[in-house]
Amino acid sequence: MTEPIYSPAENRYENGMKYRRCGKSGILLPEISLGLWQNFGDTTPYSRSKAILHHAFDRGIVSYDLANNYGPACGTAEQTFGKVFKESFRNYRDELFISTKAGYDMWPGPYGNWGSRKHLFASLEQSLKRMNLDYVDVFYSHRYDPETPMEETLQALIDIVRSGKALYAAISRWPREKMEFAIEYMASRDVPLLLYQGKLNIFDRNVESEGITELVQGNGIGFIAFSTLAEGLLSNRYLNGIPAGSRADRGSHLKASQITPEILDKIKRLNHIASLRGETLARMATAWVLSRPGVTSVIAGCSSIAQLDDTLEAVSAAPFTPEEEYAVNSAIGIAAE
Ligand SMILES: NC(=O)c1ccc[n+]([C@@H]2O[C@H](COP(=O)([O-])OP(=O)(O)OC[C@H]3O[C@@H](n4cnc5c(N)ncnc54)[C@H](OP(=O)(O)O)[C@@H]3O)[C@@H](O)[C@H]2O)c1
Repeated sequence: MTEPIYSPAENRYENGMKYRRCGKSGILLPEISLGLWQNFGDTTPYSRSKAILHHAFDRGIVSYDLANNYGPACGTAEQTFGKVFKESFRNYRDELFISTKAGYDMWPGPYGNWGSRKHLFASLEQSLKRMNLDYVDVFYSHRYDPETPMEETLQALIDIVRSGKALYAAISRWPREKMEFAIEYMASRDVPLLLYQGKLNIFDRNVESEGITELVQGNGIGFIAFSTLAEGLLSNRYLNGIPAGSRADRGSHLKASQITPEILDKIKRLNHIASLRGETLARMATAWVLSRPGVTSVIAGCSSIAQLDDTLEAVSAAPFTPEEEYAVNSAIGIAAE
């Protein structure tokens, strides 16, 4: 039996999603973007990945975060996205904001990773083929390369934008002082950075303490946050043990050994605060990130539509009262000021 042709929900822009301006650019991003790091590779049934992607677009998620090495295996998340794009999204290309990245290990030999011009150009060509795209909306340097001159990496980003294969350039995980150089270099060549991508969640606030969120905000650059649920710790996923098939069970990145009694205690305290707010922990943790200064969008990772819907509830969450903010900080052991 042939599958019916996908047609997106007509109310996808009146479905509750909110859009925030990305720094001082012309771009609006949904408060929730969808990340394809895990759960979209060739070890996940295609039908499930496709259903999540359809559902995301139906809920007003127009921003999709990919990278050359997402899977598993490397490259297969882009292939999955490319297949869904061809089958379902092709007619909606101008409604979608699609990103990819290069910099982590992708193919063997000296050109398969890091920040050379050779790697960035070759990787983007491969990504476009896998995704069935002519261009991406944003192309990232996925990590700072201490061995390659910054000018080479940044000039490659600029030339990629000028070639039309990406509309905007961005960087992820660069240290603050290198970021300062990048901002200046790109702006003075009229290809300003659109976005910085960094990890931010209730447990991990390094991008704030290092001044990265402040720096990007002060320079009109957007901030898009990843691992906002600490890979699932900041949800109900591990409250009662380690479920079969979960990320910690698979040991793909989050390890079961990271779920110590101390961490579990903090998660339980946070879960209690969430319940007092009438929310799930995933919803509260996502709302917390969205409440931080300078944040444009949260990249949600998920392995089911139910998880995505839960996280999406954050868009309508109530602001945090000072008492709730205090309670969240106390739950994770941050001393009161
Ligand atoms: N730039 C970078 O270097 C970088 C690094 C990491 C991530 N990212 C981007 O950020 C995206 C998100 O990162 P992440 O996957 O680490 O995000 P995350 O939101 O912290 O973790 C996602 C995982 O949490 C669990 N989960 C999600 N929603 C849930 C809910 N409502 N209830 C219970 N469990 C829930 C799921 O785990 P299960 O799989 O166990 O169900 C899901 O796979 C990635 O896909 C990628 O696009 C970028």
